[in-house]
Amino acid sequence: WVPFMSNPSCVTTPYLQVVVMAAGKGTRMKSRIPKVLHQLAGKPLLGHVLTTAHQLGAQRCVVVTGHQAEQVNAYVQSESEQLGLHAQVVLQSPQLGTGHAVQQAAPALSDEGITLVLSGDVPLTEVPTLQSLVQLCDGRCLALLTVNMPDPSGYGRVKRQGWSESALVDRHAPVTAIVEHKDATEAERGIQEVYSGIMALPTVLLKTWLSRLDNRNAQGEYYLTDIVKLAVADNVPVVASTISDVSQVAGVNSPVQLAEVERVLQQRTALSLMNQGVRLADPLRMDVRGQLVCEQDVDIDVNCVFEGDVTLGDGVSIGPNCVLKNVSLAAGVQVAAFSHLDGAQVGADARIGPFARLRPGARLAEDVHIGNFVEIKNSALSAGAKVNHLSYVGDADVGAKVNVGAGTITCNYDGVNKHRTVIEDDAFIGSDTQLVAPVRVARGATLGAGTTLTKDAPAEQLTVSRARQITIPGWKRPVKIKK
Ligand code: UD1
Ligand code: CA
Repeated sequence: WVPFMSNPSCVTTPYLQVVVMAAGKGTRMKSRIPKVLHQLAGKPLLGHVLTTAHQLGAQRCVVVTGHQAEQVNAYVQSESEQLGLHAQVVLQSPQLGTGHAVQQAAPALSDEGITLVLSGDVPLTEVPTLQSLVQLCDGRCLALLTVNMPDPSGYGRVKRQGWSESALVDRHAPVTAIVEHKDATEAERGIQEVYSGIMALPTVLLKTWLSRLDNRNAQGEYYLTDIVKLAVADNVPVVASTISDVSQVAGVNSPVQLAEVERVLQQRTALSLMNQGVRLADPLRMDVRGQLVCEQDVDIDVNCVFEGDVTLGDGVSIGPNCVLKNVSLAAGVQVAAFSHLDGAQVGADARIGPFARLRPGARLAEDVHIGNFVEIKNSALSAGAKVNHLSYVGDADVGAKVNVGAGTITCNYDGVNKHRTVIEDDAFIGSDTQLVAPVRVARGATLGAGTTLTKDAPAEQLTVSRARQITIPGWKRPVKIKK
């Protein structure tokens, strides 16, 4: 293996392996769900870390699991397959500390290149931060990611050369040790530079140091952080990359921290959307739980939630309080307040809502109008079709320029099977009509209001099924009988 050069003009990717520690119990989550599987922006915490490993171009990723390993392993398997990440899991049981965790991973690591150690519960570390750390390691140093914290309580403190209780230490001096909070003296606890839990180092050196760890400390654990002392003893340079963005190393141990990390991530997403030109009525009131791709001049009002893969075309506007999941909206589509769209495709300039519901398989062509309290499921609506009020259209093909009146229902389900309704171009469906599928309304047909259609309606004619209206002459309203 040849150490890669840090010259940016000839960046060669180092052989990179990632170890993700994810065996911890997560007691403070007070949940039956394994900690690393709790959702952050619609994806398990661990999924964010695996994505990071993938984006770094890791050739190999070893995930250390322990608590509820079965569930975590199954997730690692499916997610890494999706990402195309070469990942494997190793079991750590019992959990005897972070050093012990990485010891379990060591046999699965090839002796090549650099190993980067991450935690399954630290989801917001940015790829460029880790790339710089790997560069800093340079195939020969132990590189630590550190951060200055106003309240460093609980963290491992970074001790640098020349540190003493009284002297001010040069913040670029070589690192000599990491002292865990529980093992630190009062004076050491005053150090505000803390270890983030993330390090990059040559794999061969990692393996030799791991075999030399002991558990003679306050917690009786094998500390991964003790390898700093071993590096110093072996004359291997220990370098630190200190970042100021604390959120990048924030761990999730409790529902409060999970919510905090969620807000940070949502804020990042909102900023990036605005930087692309998307206009958000309030960046603090929008949630993206997946991928939101927007073209130019998109407006998004407050309290919208985007899930899965959502694409918004040129000039799309989304009203307040909408939920959009796995949908794609073509240019000029307007979605009004309180609409719920799931698994739908919407053509250019269509108008949806307010209070509309599009369910999976709704395929709307251009200029379709869907109004309030209308539900569309597994149906194709051609250009210019309108369903404006209080209707259910399921398993239907609706032609161009069809007008569906208020209160129309496709009776698509006989209790066992689903059947299709076909409404051809230019048909007019009167209000309060039931279309008992399978049934067809031919081109240009008109259905009278209140029709229960059980047989096909012919083209260009009026079809109506309705009891004839009668008036009874001389009829009197009943009157109250006096007792
Ligand atoms: C660790 C560092 C500390 C650092 C802090 C940053 C050590 C000894 N200390 O402390 O210097 O400031 O992270 O957050 O490394 N894990 C296992 N198996 C174990 C123990 C832990 O897989 O036996 C996993 C946990 O699930 C977690 C990660 O390792 O994902 C870190 O463990 P945690 O107990 O949170 O480490 P700290 O004690 O906070
Ligand atoms: Ca701990």
